[in-house]
Amino acid sequence: MEYRALVRPQVASLKPYTPGTTVSQARKKYGLDRFVKLSSNENPLGTSPLALEALRSMTDLNIYVDDDHAALRARLAAPYGFGAEHVLVGHGSNDVVRTLFTAFLAPGDEVVMADPTFSLFPKDAVLFDAVPVKVPLRDGVHDLDAMLAAVTPRTKIVVVCDPNNPTGTRVEPAAFERFARALPPQIVLVVDQAYREYMPSGSVEGAEFVRSRPGTVVLRTHSKLYGLAALRFGYALGDPEVIAYAQRVRLPFNVSRPAEVAALAALDDAAFVRRSLETNEAGKAYLARELARLGLDAYPTAANFVAVAVPGTATEAYEALLCRGIVTRSGDALGMPGRLRITIGTPEQNALLIEALAALARDGAPAPA
Ligand SMILES: Cc1ncc(COP(=O)(O)O)c(C=O)c1O
Repeated sequence: MEYRALVRPQVASLKPYTPGTTVSQARKKYGLDRFVKLSSNENPLGTSPLALEALRSMTDLNIYVDDDHAALRARLAAPYGFGAEHVLVGHGSNDVVRTLFTAFLAPGDEVVMADPTFSLFPKDAVLFDAVPVKVPLRDGVHDLDAMLAAVTPRTKIVVVCDPNNPTGTRVEPAAFERFARALPPQIVLVVDQAYREYMPSGSVEGAEFVRSRPGTVVLRTHSKLYGLAALRFGYALGDPEVIAYAQRVRLPFNVSRPAEVAALAALDDAAFVRRSLETNEAGKAYLARELARLGLDAYPTAANFVAVAVPGTATEAYEALLCRGIVTRSGDALGMPGRLRITIGTPEQNALLIEALAALARDGAPAPA
């Protein structure tokens, strides 16, 4: 049977999402006992202890979750003066993107985005027969003027990823404000702020634009700061009318009760949040200092990862670090040739990383076996 003839043409052209290398894959390849996983921007301190405690005391898993998630949605909305009706929940923010695109994208619509940015955006646009319009970054940062110039009457959605994955860079708040004001109101502005909590003060707070520009939708996640990547919880903040349309196509029960319970508990875990942010800030300062000492350029990061320029190709550098037990992400797989994307780890992990990068800067990448 030739299934290619059956599959939707746009699906035939897609490649499956490739996540970062897992520790078990690295172990299989190199046979080392210990790996430091700095490939997926996870919280190096683990999971919020309050979330874990709440998960341990869960019962009644035979009962479906209350799919309204009213308490959680109200809680997420409250810091911005919004209500539950401003919040769309998802099985990670990936799922939120899928839900929004399902609701809004029709064949031939254009989705303006930076290049490179989070790979799900161009892929999901293609899935709905829409056209990703990719606007190159300028010096590693969203070129908002060029993105505005790329808007046409066919533009349905504009995506700003702030901080941007894979570069870690943020947009300048005054420039974003001008951009948001200039964007025609009928365009949905998606602001992916998966790393919002790590940003320096004075950065863009996407949620504030929901009020001043109602077609704005902000994406947030518990996968990073709260250490709940495996559980899957993300959400969008947006105008109630936009959210209500997305609700029509959201998959029922897409957020499990364990995810709901852990997500709520994590929001109360001020101690874990503080420790996580302090660890990230200290790691960021250490890496900035050490990378400069090694003569390795890194984009200024507003997130929990850095995009580091490496000698040779990114894939060679990735392999060289992997055989020393450090798992990173090759920029070759992310549209960022010549750089690695590296999660900021614990002090011990960061020191091991710098040791491996120093060897790489000194000796170059070993010849492929
Ligand atoms: C910019 C950005 N958006 C969204 C996501 C997806 O996060 P989630 O785990 O909530 O699906 C990621 C994950 O790496 C990301 O970097």
